[in-house]
This record gives sequence, structure tokens and C-alpha cells, in this order.
Amino acid sequence: MSDNHTVNAAEGDIDLEQYTQSVIASISSKASPRVRKAFPILIKKLHEFIVEADVTVEEWQAGQVTTVQRDEMVLVSDVLGVESLVDILAFKRTAEAAKNDEKSSSNEVSHSAILGPFYRHGVPVQPNGTTIVRQFEKDAGYTRLFGTVYDSEGKPVKGAMVDVWHDAPDGLYDAQDPSKPQNHCRGRFQTDENGRYETICLRPTPYPIPFDHSAGKLLQMMGRHPYRPAHIHFWIEAPGHKTLVSQVFDRESDYLKDDAVFAVKDSLVIDFVPIEQGKSAKEGYEARAELKDVLKYELEQDFRLTKAVSQEDPGLDIQGLAIGGEPVVKA
Ligand code: BEZ
Ligand code: FE
Repeated sequence: MSDNHTVNAAEGDIDLEQYTQSVIASISSKASPRVRKAFPILIKKLHEFIVEADVTVEEWQAGQVTTVQRDEMVLVSDVLGVESLVDILAFKRTAEAAKNDEKSSSNEVSHSAILGPFYRHGVPVQPNGTTIVRQFEKDAGYTRLFGTVYDSEGKPVKGAMVDVWHDAPDGLYDAQDPSKPQNHCRGRFQTDENGRYETICLRPTPYPIPFDHSAGKLLQMMGRHPYRPAHIHFWIEAPGHKTLVSQVFDRESDYLKDDAVFAVKDSLVIDFVPIEQGKSAKEGYEARAELKDVLKYELEQDFRLTKAVSQEDPGLDIQGLAIGGEPVVKA
């Protein structure tokens, strides 16, 4: 793995059988004998189908026709490791294309990760350096998050759109808590002429996926917990490049080894680096100065995009899944 959180396309592969075994192994020895007998078969056959049919992210999402903030079938498929398996297959295709790209400088690519249900379309773009924390969060881990978006040749990409979202210190996303300001801990930035984006966010916290219906029942049957490790979501798009959906995971978080939805990849585990009070405010974006007294950490996260397969490559079409999107029913 290189310093800027990328993996070599040839080496970043995840073994599919091992992955399925890890999902099966998450079933507790305390689960009932019936669950311990039936669920490994269900998971194995389900994963075999997805791998054999080479299901794409778009196909997996095509069944979703609602805009509700909560889709139980997605959650059910998440706890059975399906969304992450589809993502692993998608990454294999991306990595293969990167390997075959003669112009690519090093075959380095950023690992993708699942989208999850809390992406929101059309969040207003805000100036680099401004915060996505829209109400003051006392004692929270204010973090200067910044980095560079590169293309497959290793050149900075000017004008890339970087969407960032994470949970608030109480473990809830803005959409789950109407008492919070809209877009709390969520924002959108355009990379500058040097390909750089920057914001002030919070160090996120582990949280449980919604577990009050079928997905929760399945977890309970398998003797599993509903928690995800602390993570930040990203969605990065730029003309001529494949849209990258990813997450980074806090190395010090609980649940890195037993994420309820199996999304953790080694190259996406990152460090929140403590900073000296006020140090970051000395250079760079002026707006940072506003929060200099509460800044505790820095997180530098670069991304390496791959080329779009064709001019028309739509990247991901996930409107039907995202909060606030119009329903999309594919022909
Ligand atoms: C999330 O990370 O936001 C998420 C992913 C899968 C299921 C529920 C939540
Ligand atoms: Fe999340």
C-alpha cells in the first residue's frame, strides 16, 4: 500500500471465498442449531449467485425504487454481506481496467466501499476550508480533513466534486434526527486548481445500523451485534473519471474486525493525527481560523480515480437509493 491510501490494482484484490467465509464465521456459536445449520448455506448460495452472475452495483441497486430513508431489504442484504460483496466485485472490475490502462502511472487505485443508505443528493457546494459541523458539538473531535484527488496518471484533478458525510457524536446521521440542522456533518466541496479539498468535520463514532425490523431480527438470530466501526463516507466524481464511493475507518475504533456490514478494507483504515492547538490555522484556507481553538485532529486523505470506461460512463446511478432523490425505476 502506498502512503496516500491507495492499493496497487494487482495486489488490492480480496479473496472472494475468504470473504464469504468471514461472513459465515460472523455467526455466533450461541446462535440456535437451526440457524447455525441453515444460514451458512443461505449465505454461501447467495454469494455464489452474486459472484457467478457477476452482479454490478447498478444491478444490485436496480431493485430499489423507493426514496424512503430506510429500505429494509437493503439492510437485510447488508447484514448478509451482499452490498459489500457487490462492491468487491465492482472494485475487481475497476482494478482490472486500471491494470490495462497503459497511461496509468503506477496502477495505484483507491479502494471503494459501500454507499450505505445515508447518502444525500444535491447537497450545496461550499467553499473549501469551511466546516460541515452545523451546530456546535461540545467536546467533539473537530478534525481538519483535507487531501488531493488524483487521476490515473497521478495528476491532480481540478474541479472534482467531493461529497463527505458521517454521523454526529450521538451516532445519528442528520436524516435520522430532525432536531439537527439540515446537512449536519455532511457537505460537498470542489477541488481547487491543485486538486485539493478541505473541510472541518468531526472524528466519527461507531453506531448501530437500524435494527428494529427484519435486519435486526436476522442479526439477533445469528448472535451478532448491529454496530459499524467509526467511519467517514466519500463520494467523488469528476468528468472523464469513474465515480468513486468509499469510506475511511478510524484505526482506534471498536468493530473494525466485526463491522455489521463487512465493509472494512485494510487500505481504508486511517489515523486521526492529534494537532497542536491552533497550528493548522496558520496556513491555508482562512476559514479554518474560525475553529482553531477546537481543532483536535488532522486527517489527510488522498484519492486516486480511474478513467471512465467511455465518455458516457454514467458512474453510479443510485438516485433511487439516496435520501432526497427522485425514484428511479429502470427499464
Ligand atoms: C452506513 O454506513 O451508513 C450504513 C451502511 C449499511 C447499512 C446501514 C448504514
Ligand atoms: Fe455510515
